[in-house]
Amino acid sequence: MVAINTVFAPIENDLLSLNKNLQNMIGARHPVLGAAAEHLFTAGGKRLRPAIVLLCAKTFANNNEISASQRRLAEITEIIHTASLVHDDVLDECSTRRGIKTVHNVFSTKIAILAGDFLFAQSSWYLANLENLQVVKIISKVITDFAEGEVRQGFTRFDLQFPIEDYISKSFYKTGSLIAASCQGAVMLNDAPKEISDAFYMYGRYLGLAFQIIDDILDVVGSSNDLGKPAGSDLSQGNLTAPVLFSIPESIYLAQLIDQEFANSSDIQDALQIIREGCGIQQAKDLASEYLQAAIHCLEIIDNSADIQLLKQLTLNILERVN
Ligand code: IPE
Ligand code: IPE
Ligand code: MG
Ligand code: MG
Repeated sequence: MVAINTVFAPIENDLLSLNKNLQNMIGARHPVLGAAAEHLFTAGGKRLRPAIVLLCAKTFANNNEISASQRRLAEITEIIHTASLVHDDVLDECSTRRGIKTVHNVFSTKIAILAGDFLFAQSSWYLANLENLQVVKIISKVITDFAEGEVRQGFTRFDLQFPIEDYISKSFYKTGSLIAASCQGAVMLNDAPKEISDAFYMYGRYLGLAFQIIDDILDVVGSSNDLGKPAGSDLSQGNLTAPVLFSIPESIYLAQLIDQEFANSSDIQDALQIIREGCGIQQAKDLASEYLQAAIHCLEIIDNSADIQLLKQLTLNILERVN
């Protein structure tokens, strides 16, 4: 398996200038809003979404050159993602993110809501300035999808009957939609024909679903230190994710603990142990792996250039986070 750094190497300079631009783009009229918004950009994050946008842009570019508007799309994508995290952390009552305190933890919930809204608004303004109506349409839909995903999640907490199909569609709204639309947008900005832009959309959709499943596995098996955010928090919030849903039919005791909403202080640890020792994690990994293969399959629509191979390696690498 090729290391993630090797995959990012050809776009390393592009990611450095993206980081610089992100700081410049987030100018706020009020210093508190600016500080709150900048908070998470300074802390970093993996920059996976902009890396994917830049690589998609390269695979279908004129003379392999990434255009200014494609770079801008990569930046917009990271701003939208960060805005969604600021709001998600309020909903999930999450205290740390990217290794530092969350915005609502440092400032307040009110400031975090405003800071998230501010980032969404900034992203819309930069999006409109791309002056490409098709791209504006597909990316702006993503923000509605976040709300849909978060609301669906909020209404299904501790629901033992939550079907895996509904978990997948919720994950599409929360995570798949942004990655799908930004991959599609990247090639649309190069006037890609419809069948190619549709294939890139499906690529991002499958990749996004796999990414969310893997994030959900890491919540069960990872450490807060490595993740930069609290581990085990999905379960304590009653957010039943793929590894949990696959484990429920294996253990009546696990189902009871969930049904009683972890009434005793040791219940969460007991539940996590049951899940870690069962087959649910492997089943979730297998599902993520199927989605990653489906994502790679979508890329077969164009010739297997060096850039496509990089994109395929990046796709496969996503599974390595849990291996
Ligand atoms: C976290 O995304 C939210 C999910 C969709 C699972 P990332 O794991 O990409 O977060 P950062 O950007 O690296 O902090
Ligand atoms: C993804 O879901 C959140 C968004 C796409 C907004 P999670 O709730 O699993 O993300 P983390 O684990 O908090 O990063
Ligand atoms: Mg969360
Ligand atoms: Mg998570």
